[in-house]
Amino acid sequence: MNEEQAKKRIDELRTALNHHNYLYYVLNKPEIDDYLFDQLMQELIRLENQYGQYADPLSPSQRVGGEVTKKFNAVKHVSRMLSLDNIYNTDELIAFHERVVKVLGIAPEYVCELKIDGVAISIHYEHGKLLQAVTRGDGIQGDDVTTNVKTIRSLPLRLRGNNIPEKMEVRGEIYMPITVFEALNNQLREELSDKGLTEDEMADELFKNPRNSAAGTLKLQSSKEVSKRKLDAYLYAVLGASVHAETHYESLNMARCWGFRINEQTRKCKNIQDILDFISYWEERRHQLPYDTDGIVIKVNSVAYQKQLGETAKSPRWAIAYKYKPAQVSTILLDISFQVGRTGAITPVANLKPVLLAGTTVKRASLHNAGFIADLDLRIGDTVWVEKGGDIIPKITKVDMSKRDLFSSPFLFITHCPECHTALIQRDGEANHYCPNETGCRPQILGKMIHFIYRKAMNIDSLGEKTIEQLYDKGKIQSYADFYSLTYDDIIQLEGFKEKATTNILTGIAHSKTVPFQRVLFALGIRYVGETMARKLAQYFKNIQALSEASFETLCEIDEIGEKIAESIILFFKNPINQVIIKRLENAGVQLSITEEETRLHSHKLDGKTFVISGVFNQHSRDELKDLIVKNGGKNTGSISKKTSFLLAGENAGPEKLKKASDLSIAILSEDDFLNMIR
Ligand code: IVH
Repeated sequence: MNEEQAKKRIDELRTALNHHNYLYYVLNKPEIDDYLFDQLMQELIRLENQYGQYADPLSPSQRVGGEVTKKFNAVKHVSRMLSLDNIYNTDELIAFHERVVKVLGIAPEYVCELKIDGVAISIHYEHGKLLQAVTRGDGIQGDDVTTNVKTIRSLPLRLRGNNIPEKMEVRGEIYMPITVFEALNNQLREELSDKGLTEDEMADELFKNPRNSAAGTLKLQSSKEVSKRKLDAYLYAVLGASVHAETHYESLNMARCWGFRINEQTRKCKNIQDILDFISYWEERRHQLPYDTDGIVIKVNSVAYQKQLGETAKSPRWAIAYKYKPAQVSTILLDISFQVGRTGAITPVANLKPVLLAGTTVKRASLHNAGFIADLDLRIGDTVWVEKGGDIIPKITKVDMSKRDLFSSPFLFITHCPECHTALIQRDGEANHYCPNETGCRPQILGKMIHFIYRKAMNIDSLGEKTIEQLYDKGKIQSYADFYSLTYDDIIQLEGFKEKATTNILTGIAHSKTVPFQRVLFALGIRYVGETMARKLAQYFKNIQALSEASFETLCEIDEIGEKIAESIILFFKNPINQVIIKRLENAGVQLSITEEETRLHSHKLDGKTFVISGVFNQHSRDELKDLIVKNGGKNTGSISKKTSFLLAGENAGPEKLKKASDLSIAILSEDDFLNMIR
């Protein structure tokens, strides 16, 4: 293919991909399957990499992100981004309408829209091309988040259709679909639980709701990460002198023709009754939508009337937000039960008489800790109010005292572990109670063993939770060290086990002896030592002996290790039972130090050299490559400058990076070139 043919094909692919993107993400009517779409995208990326001269910041390939934003520049809004006044009931709606009628002298037509609970955005287009996207900020100026916004598939990078204004600004709401939010939080939860965090500690680190999550995502530095988070957007306003529309509704229709996603539920309303119908229609149904809404926006439809009504310092007089009250319902607290986590943390859980709330049946609610129960003075048999506000998890907000049984008595928090009956402890400054019987309490023991075999730890996937439970209940194993003394007979005796499954388990266990030290360290299940921390500790101390002898002060000196983590590491190694377990792992041949090969890798071959990594690699992950650069004396940076020595480029490396590197005559290395360099 010559250059001219390449350019032609690139254009063809871009047009086709833009079109299919629009069909899929805006119209929800795909004409080709994902596989074909991916193939076209791969072909485009390949050609763009090969012919860097045709790089285009608005190419559909940019949707996957790549660029890193170091600092979000402040940008002044052309016109202020106002917010809306809120109303909560019919009387306030009528009062709003009367104020409007008083100014206009007649009752106008309105448009009702769903109020999407996300993050407001302003996007500028010039000659039909996306130019800049800015957050609301303080309404006067916001942050330039263009690179991140470009990853939102349903937002057109180039407009389609006719009569596209030369300059135009659109405003709308960027949101995270509920399913995406839940998947993201589940993944985060898994990572946090690996570190042994309690439910409450986790709740502090998880995203509270989709809005929170969308806001956080929009401010990520890596647009590639933003792209993975699958944000979406609805546009609700078109601004710009060159947009000729007499009504708001008409302007939305025009925007729809230009390729924007406009909410399908938007309706014209002739009078207050129409508005009230719209409000009550969505009051319950909104919970079935794939995104969060927190109300309805009511807007005067005529643009001329909007101008006549004007605005106050804070909000327009021609629009108002009707906010729904957080959904709440009362039910009976049947019982309080207690869960014991892998680290011994006790979580009280309310068992409720099942009720329907905001589209889901609620049976249970976390009660967090003893303090929470005492503050609400919760008693068994109480009628309690359960609320689901902006956050996904329902919570008990108060007791209906009018229904309290006169003879009820305050709830007494348990003093002993519900599983092993050991007296509970409460550490200084912590709200949770703990069962300290780390090595003798069933859920703690099982939890630790299950964590040990986990994919990212020792990866013994032939052993499952149920098998571990059976082996434990039969007295064959007490701790993960016992996996290494299991015999064929121990396993074949288990219910439903035949020869093949038995040998699979034994092979899996034997194979785990080759798992590198950093993962073994993670598998030990030391509280607060997640995957990354384990890697750090393994690199720093090189073997378990050195780590177990490290003082509190030495640990605290290490980057990112705070007192809480240091204390947890010290406590773990001080425990004589853990000492025996580690000795037994060592005797079994588990890797308790980094291998010679890993130590040998250290060199000064890359001293003074600065690298930028881009793309996907075959033999190593990007993190591993970064690690190798550092281990050999080199430095990693995010963007290419004159100071960059090499661009390490894998598949799908960013075309802009490639172009910049060749402009600055910076050597571009493949993965093999790089590995040869350090060999
Ligand atoms: S109109 C002049 N329409 O709600 C104000 N806002 O304070 C123009 N929002 O953060 C806003 N859905 O981003 C409008 N259909 C909708 C909306 C909507 C969500 C957000 C908006 C702003 C807040 C209002």
